[in-house]
Amino acid sequence: MANAVLLGVQWGDEGKGKIVDLLTENADAVVRFQGGHNAGHTLVIEGKKTVLHLIPSGAMREGIECLIGNGVVVDLHHLIQEIDNLQKRDITISERLMISPGCALIMPYHVVLDRIRDQARGKSAIGTTGRGIGPCYEDKIARRGLRVADLLDEQNFSGKLEQVMEYHNFMISNYYHAKPVDYRNTLETMLATREVILPMAGDVSARLNTLCQEGKSVIFEGAQGMMLDIDHGTYPYVTSSNTVAAAASVGSGIGIAQVGEVVGVIKAYTTRVGSGPFPTELVDHYGEHLASKGNEFGATTGRPRRCGWLDIVALRRAVQVCGINTLCMTKLDVLDGIDMVRLCVGYHFKGERIDLPPYGAESLEKCVPIYEELPGWNTPTAETRNYSEIPETAISYINRVAELLERPVIIISTGAGRDETIVLKNPLIDG
Ligand code: GDP
Ligand code: IMO
Ligand code: MG
Repeated sequence: MANAVLLGVQWGDEGKGKIVDLLTENADAVVRFQGGHNAGHTLVIEGKKTVLHLIPSGAMREGIECLIGNGVVVDLHHLIQEIDNLQKRDITISERLMISPGCALIMPYHVVLDRIRDQARGKSAIGTTGRGIGPCYEDKIARRGLRVADLLDEQNFSGKLEQVMEYHNFMISNYYHAKPVDYRNTLETMLATREVILPMAGDVSARLNTLCQEGKSVIFEGAQGMMLDIDHGTYPYVTSSNTVAAAASVGSGIGIAQVGEVVGVIKAYTTRVGSGPFPTELVDHYGEHLASKGNEFGATTGRPRRCGWLDIVALRRAVQVCGINTLCMTKLDVLDGIDMVRLCVGYHFKGERIDLPPYGAESLEKCVPIYEELPGWNTPTAETRNYSEIPETAISYINRVAELLERPVIIISTGAGRDETIVLKNPLIDG
């Protein structure tokens, strides 16, 4: 069977987790390849809600291998907590969870730095999740970070830690005038994770290559969204990793040709948590409708999500950069009952019409959306599982999105529940 990469192609929270969990029925393994526990992926199975942050969304199906690729930044204490939380519900994960030795470790001083730095930015704060993601990736690129593999040798770990902490504590106390992080305590708490973590450390790249050789089916699960990509997103209001499709290869250790069909997950409208430009943002009653009906609160931080119309311009960039083959539209039901829906099909920028978003937040801030208006629908789509029951006007909306992006919509989600979905084409089976 085939592989597929599932990516959020807006500003995150598109419903990736739900779709990955659904498709895992026909998969053998799910791999995360970037980001960390800044992600919050919600699965609702038989009415029961589970939010996963670091553990791949294959967790809820017995026997599915869950792999954490080298591109992921891992907070080991958080990971242990997440494993325990599942264990309490009789979901055993540790025997089928593999963590790459190449994963960069999120350390307590990364969390401190993330928070004090974003605070120090004042009005231009990014509004990060405060999980230490950015500082951890910085250390990785600066070649001073600690990795899962470093835990193998206590001596080596303590030496490297001492050096890197001296550097960060100097910044924390002398530049930010904040309390330094205690070395001894950090060392002890990190070493204490070895017993649980090291048995799960394994060569994810080798495992993935074997799975592919055996003809097994792998889902590559993106975190965040394309518009939060460090290179192609709304810089600097982005996360610190590449969220585009190519990251699936780099962040897990498999050839680019192996990742399979690239499925872009889009919400039927747009949301964003944190700061940064958002051309189609709504601050009127339509925005309130989307926020309340869509229950738009961050799955990681609980912050209210900003809401707006679907932005085809931003999605065009995602289709282009990620090489999206097919689309999956979630939360169609949230649009039920509004009199009209709008699609942003272009931007006015510097007196011209443009069809792709400019690079950089300052330019995007100046873009004014050009809308196309479509009729709304009163017949509810909520919980619908049959395509034939979707009202004509909602079908027209979906078709117009597909037409504008020149990509087919193969999955439609009409509710948070695993089964509240219409699968027109399964990328793992019909790919
Ligand atoms: P992710 O980060 O992309 O996995 O998405 P989140 O879990 O952060 O946010 C998506 C939210 O929408 C969660 O609360 C889901 O339970 C919910 N959700 C997913 N699909 C649908 C849908 O089709 N309809 C509705 N009403 N809710 C959905
Ligand atoms: P999932 O996988 C939505 C946003 C933060 C902030 C910016 C940088 O659930 O879609 P960071 O902590 O990564 O340095 O914060 O990125 N952000 C997300 N927004 N969903 C996410 O993940 C996000 N992960 C990070 O709100 O604006
Ligand atoms: Mg989320």
